[in-house]
Amino acid sequence: MSQDPSQQDSSESAVITSADAVKSATPAVILTGDRPTGPLHLGHFVGSLRSRVEYQHQYKQYIMLADSQALTDNMDDTNKVHRNVVEVALDYLAVGIDPSKSTILIQSQIPELAELTFYYLNMVTVARLERNPTVKAEIVLRGFERDIPAGFLTYPASQAADISAFKASIVPVGEDQIPMIEQTNEIVRRFNRLAGKDVLVECKALVPEIGRLPGIDGKAKMSKSLGNTINLGASADEITAAVKKVYTDPLHLRVQDPGHLEGNVAFIYLDAFDTDKAALEEMKAHYTRGGLGDSIVKKRLEAVLQEMLGPIRARREEYAKDKGYVMQLLKEGTMRAREVAAKTADEVKAALGLTYF
Ligand code: TRP
Repeated sequence: MSQDPSQQDSSESAVITSADAVKSATPAVILTGDRPTGPLHLGHFVGSLRSRVEYQHQYKQYIMLADSQALTDNMDDTNKVHRNVVEVALDYLAVGIDPSKSTILIQSQIPELAELTFYYLNMVTVARLERNPTVKAEIVLRGFERDIPAGFLTYPASQAADISAFKASIVPVGEDQIPMIEQTNEIVRRFNRLAGKDVLVECKALVPEIGRLPGIDGKAKMSKSLGNTINLGASADEITAAVKKVYTDPLHLRVQDPGHLEGNVAFIYLDAFDTDKAALEEMKAHYTRGGLGDSIVKKRLEAVLQEMLGPIRARREEYAKDKGYVMQLLKEGTMRAREVAAKTADEVKAALGLTYF
């Protein structure tokens, strides 16, 4: 066997853009997760939530509230993580994720995930973890410098546990997470080689074809830390205020001037959410020709967003009235999921010779 686990496994690409691309003898299992550190926003909606609502009809789908993973960089604010578990669950329910079709689970309540992580940590080197591009970028972003929590550095092993415990073959993630999937597959392959049989299942990263949604300020990424989001639970007034701030074309000074569409957030959002494509194309042509003011474009954008987010907000408020019920749904999902994870953990331990009684 070669010395460096990262160098030996360069099989086919771990990335796909359509769930249908996965051909397998057994039905595909999907697993996704979110760190519950803040409310979900339009970026999450475009990038993942919308497709989860679709996938739940076609696939076995697990959706993980990754609270343990969130602690790897929030140990000083465990309250925030606790609070956001229910907030994110409300967002899920509000957009139409159906807990009778999708299994929603809380990571920390499935101890087998921690158990698997402990074994997998022996199948990755510290050097490999330090080279993981996702981890590297996040270390810079969080300003850890040399004081990196060991749990943070090693969270790829934990994410490999999340994915493999449910034998997921498809993992819908943002592009930034692809290295996590590659590292998961390295662990899976190493483990199966060690076991001499396919105990664990390799997975593919399912990356959305539609790119990342920019923030309302025009920055490439919509993110809570940048303060440029429109949250799924935003009030009608918050939506109005956000649309006013939406970045358009700084060169479009007078109505009669030709406007530009590139980087124009108003049009990027309309592309993502306006279902009347013909009217939108006409509007774009008028804008680039000149003679169409930003205020008209924003009026349309506001109408589209209010119409889309109104029902989501209403459903969110309805569920929020009974958080006990929401917790009950999470408990049921977690218990169902735990049975699956426990079975995998037993198989893993058996393969490692850790069965005694
Ligand atoms: N790391 C993911 C993120 O930051 C969240 C996550 C945790 C996850 N466990 C997962 C994603 C398992 C996919 C599969 O977005």
